[in-house]
Amino acid sequence: MQVIHTISELRDALATHRQRGFVPTMGNLHDGHLQLVRQARELVGPAGAVVASVFVNRLQFAPHEDFDTYPRTLARDCELLEGAGCDIVFAPSENELYPELQGYKVQPPAELADILEGHFRPGFFTGVCTVVHKLFNIVQPTLAVFGKKDYQQLMVLRRMVAQMALPIEIHGGETRRSAQGLALSSRNGYLSEAEKVEALRLSRTLKSLIAHWQAGERDVAAMEADALRSLRDAGWVPDYITLRRQHDLGPAVEGQPLVALGAAKLGSTRLIDNLEI
Ligand code: PAJ
Repeated sequence: MQVIHTISELRDALATHRQRGFVPTMGNLHDGHLQLVRQARELVGPAGAVVASVFVNRLQFAPHEDFDTYPRTLARDCELLEGAGCDIVFAPSENELYPELQGYKVQPPAELADILEGHFRPGFFTGVCTVVHKLFNIVQPTLAVFGKKDYQQLMVLRRMVAQMALPIEIHGGETRRSAQGLALSSRNGYLSEAEKVEALRLSRTLKSLIAHWQAGERDVAAMEADALRSLRDAGWVPDYITLRRQHDLGPAVEGQPLVALGAAKLGSTRLIDNLEI
């Protein structure tokens, strides 16, 4: 496995590979990320190249968020990536990816990007789309794999690729969880042992929202309000708990595939999760 820090070296290393599977990450890797790398390997086959990027993208962090403290663990990440079948790690410096102020940006449409995550993190999806578009131009992958853990991100990026006619197949990877059901996340490292147990309440709350729907309840607003209340009662500060249709995250409608999504702060750590029906 090669670890490459510059765009020109990456282009040289990739020149002979036609099939390229790409997994963008911000590092501090766990088995959820590694599963995406294994999936990319399966998809491109043994002759293809699997590229993972490790880059903490300043553009997608608001000033009060954890850009400075986001864990940077490149040496360990590289060991894990090698074990998962990665061929090339692209780990650019900030100066390499953003040598000057990134004035050109990719702005996704408000109806996809200003709801849910985008409502609580203004500009987040512009930051994500801009860096992913730029990474796509650098790596020029034939396919890329993103986790369903970040459900709205996957949807926003799929639409970007379709609308910009990028010749890249986008694949979704299932969310990896701990044995107890906690969705793996780099931010779980911020949780105390007691908080790690309490954190399970988020996926339980989403499960119970789905159970109410499956039992025939249709007052979605009341169901969501109940879910928010139960989290608040347990000391959380929820941003949203909601039942939506999978296709475009519009309102839940009978007869269409649905997804329950939630984001909430436990102590100072913001967690997100979702469950498809
Ligand atoms: P990051 O949070 O590092 O996640 C990288 C990829 O791993 C994303 O596609 C994310 O959905 C996926 N992932 C995270 N936790 C997962 C889990 N428990 N199971 C399965 N997949 C999981 O998402 C980002 O970075 C950034 O926004 C990025 C796309 C790299 C752009 O900067």
